[in-house]
Amino acid sequence: MRVGVLTGGGDCPGLNAVIRAIVRKGVQEYGYSFTGFRDGWRGPLDDATVRLDIPAVRGILPRGGTVLGSSRTNPLQAEDGVRCIRDTLARHGVDALITIGGEDTLGVAARLSGEHGIPCVGVPKTIDNDLSATDYTFGFDTAVGIATEAIDRLHTTAESHMRVLVVEVMGRHAGWIALHSGLAGGANVILIPEQRFDVDQVCSWVTSRFRASYAPIVVVAEGAVPRDGDMVLKDGTLDSFGHVRLSGIGEWLAKQIEKRTGKEARTTVLGHVQRGGTPSAFDRWLATRFGLHAIDAVRDGDFGTMVALRGTDIVRVPLGEATARLKTVDPKLYAEVGVFFG
Ligand code: F6P
Repeated sequence: MRVGVLTGGGDCPGLNAVIRAIVRKGVQEYGYSFTGFRDGWRGPLDDATVRLDIPAVRGILPRGGTVLGSSRTNPLQAEDGVRCIRDTLARHGVDALITIGGEDTLGVAARLSGEHGIPCVGVPKTIDNDLSATDYTFGFDTAVGIATEAIDRLHTTAESHMRVLVVEVMGRHAGWIALHSGLAGGANVILIPEQRFDVDQVCSWVTSRFRASYAPIVVVAEGAVPRDGDMVLKDGTLDSFGHVRLSGIGEWLAKQIEKRTGKEARTTVLGHVQRGGTPSAFDRWLATRFGLHAIDAVRDGDFGTMVALRGTDIVRVPLGEATARLKTVDPKLYAEVGVFFG
């Protein structure tokens, strides 16, 4: 049996841990051989491969990024994409494909498997933690840790200057990173894409924080949107979900706070630092277990499935179910955290 492996979409700490687990168990326990495809779906489209054997995965467990490279290429949008992938797999004698990715990459795997009979097993990854059908995705814990450390550091500089510090974190459609890091870092305001926010309300929380002689920290997810429709429509763009988005929401919000409260405000955009570097111990654990279970799904011929975390168990779910909708923050959970605002 020869198994192809690819990593698609935005990279994420823990990808190498999955690859290592797949190869180690596949070679040692089942005697399989592997072909790594370079840069997500671009690899099978362009026939770009990477050697994938035990020496190739030695020492990669703690390394961030992906030794296979990644891209957001969608083969279903390429001319003759499906035929091209089928030909490449046949040329290399690949019997099954493990695709490690987020909503887009796994959505393609679901269609290739369901509509075109290409045997795929999926592994969920995203720092955003917004894939349904799994309790957590690896990469999320690392990203939350990085954002929390940044917030801890920003508290001290905010207090020295008695300024507002706005921290913009990743999360286009879901506010999981903002919610978890904001709570862990003791933020005074947390704004998420799921719930439109009122700038005047934010300013009143900021002012009450100053009244208590503390400098406020505002955590805002990049996809958060203010309630004032006019302002958004003037400066915003429509994203792939048809939602209006402001680019640079952190910077925009800091300016509004300065204007409306008269207090000095600064913005920190954490950006890709949240995706870089070594995975946390939890992410190494989760990614490794996903890898071990993905190769078992291949052995069982259980294609069209994705491995997922449910409680402490790793289970298999249909790929279609996993990519049907995004997992967003429940309003009740957000309301629970609201006790700390202001
Ligand atoms: O999907 C993960 C994610 O990190 C989002 O939170 C972020 O908006 C996006 O990727 C950034 O993507 P890129 O690296 O392609 O700019």
